Amino acid sequence: IPVDEFDLVIFGGTGDLARRKILPGLYRRFRSGQMPEGARIIGAARADQDSAAYRKMIQDAIEEFVPEKSRDSESIAEFIKLLEYIPIDATGEGGWKELAAMVRKEVVKAFYFSVGPSLFGDLAERLHKYGIADDQSRLVVEKPFGRDLDSAKALNAVLAQHFDESQIYRIDHYLGKETVQNLMAVRFGNILFEPLWNSQYVDHIQITAAETVAVGSRGAYYDKSGAMRDMVQNHLMQLLCLIAMEPPNEFEPDAVRDEKLKVIRALDPVAQSDIVRGQYSGNADGPSYVEEAENPDSKTECFVAMKVNISNWRWKGTPIYLRTGKRLRARESEIAVVFKDPPHSIFGEQDGRRGNVLVIRLQPNEGMNLRVTIKEPGPGGMRLMEVPLDMSFAEALGPDAEDVPDAYERLIMDVIRGNQTLFMRGDEVEAAWAWTDPIIKGWTERGDKPKLYDPGSSGPEDALMLLHKDGRRWREIKV
Ligand code: BG6
Repeated sequence: IPVDEFDLVIFGGTGDLARRKILPGLYRRFRSGQMPEGARIIGAARADQDSAAYRKMIQDAIEEFVPEKSRDSESIAEFIKLLEYIPIDATGEGGWKELAAMVRKEVVKAFYFSVGPSLFGDLAERLHKYGIADDQSRLVVEKPFGRDLDSAKALNAVLAQHFDESQIYRIDHYLGKETVQNLMAVRFGNILFEPLWNSQYVDHIQITAAETVAVGSRGAYYDKSGAMRDMVQNHLMQLLCLIAMEPPNEFEPDAVRDEKLKVIRALDPVAQSDIVRGQYSGNADGPSYVEEAENPDSKTECFVAMKVNISNWRWKGTPIYLRTGKRLRARESEIAVVFKDPPHSIFGEQDGRRGNVLVIRLQPNEGMNLRVTIKEPGPGGMRLMEVPLDMSFAEALGPDAEDVPDAYERLIMDVIRGNQTLFMRGDEVEAAWAWTDPIIKGWTERGDKPKLYDPGSSGPEDALMLLHKDGRRWREIKV
């Protein structure tokens, strides 16, 4: 789809996210020829520097954060010519007139708030006061979108004073991941799966987002958030919605988002006995969570596992287990749909038969894997075995796999194209907080301390028990 000419203004244009993700993503699109002539990117931040210094800063960032095979110095030199810089005072008046003079009237305008939410109101107000934004402009905001229902509502209200919902793009970068979109293609582009996609045939679903990284230098910030707010309320919730939602009648933003919202609203409150929270201990490779958080009494979780039930016609009786954590055995994100056994085995009892599982791998090695039962080859009689029907996207796509855009690239280009399908609507975010709030409140009131787990493990023992007590087991987090 051709992209129109645009002016993209990045507030917080010198920040970590801009340097690590946003600008490297834009560069990659530029390099693959997907950026229109006349595209322009304006960095705006507090630092007093000129455009030349900014171009150098972004050149360095691209060299640091884009893998060598995906960059070359000629295209970097061309790309940075698209960049301008304006020093701006988000809460004062400095720089705004200059920005107004720079932004073109006749092109698509997008404003990326890559800044703390406390500045959203000031920025939105000034974009209007100085006549920079109009009713066609797009606004991009990042997580954290609130830390509970009240603060999310307040943020939505602040943005709504100046922008219509159809102009607001709330980023959840998990929605930009290739496999996440593939999940919709697999579910709704095939006749094969959908008839089985319900509690009659699905025993349970596991959603895992395991990380090897520690909280590291983000410790102090992270300690005020925790895994529930940092990963579950947004990323895992979005995956859950896509796996569980009803087929939308068309692949259009509101049709998809209406269905996701219905899933969130159908989630049961979670019993505290169905949640396990954890903190990693220290070892020779690194300090413990509480040391990194610089808070020896910290009760914040950097691991959480829970059982979630959806009260609707399709899913009643099929639990969804979620788990995410830092410093685990491997970086592995996947969704596993574990099907029930056939109602009757004509082959009698068979050892080792574990049944059909459809695994959608988000990272690493994006792909899909369907475990099926076949006959063990050879003359040994009718003995069954499990084999994976494995599809790695990298292999399937061959040399083009390198061009699969990363989550940020795709989402930013969707903003420019004006496609909100992969962005969270305000009511969705509020519904997700409405479900999350009582869970966090529950453990805060009880004053529970998370369980310790060994770094490099798959989380606290109790997380294993969460499934064992239901006669199930987690899929292994493999190195
Ligand atoms: C971010 C969280 O939203 O997602 C981080 O704030 C987390 O704590 C990251 O590490 C994980 O993203 P990804 O794409 O590496 O799975």
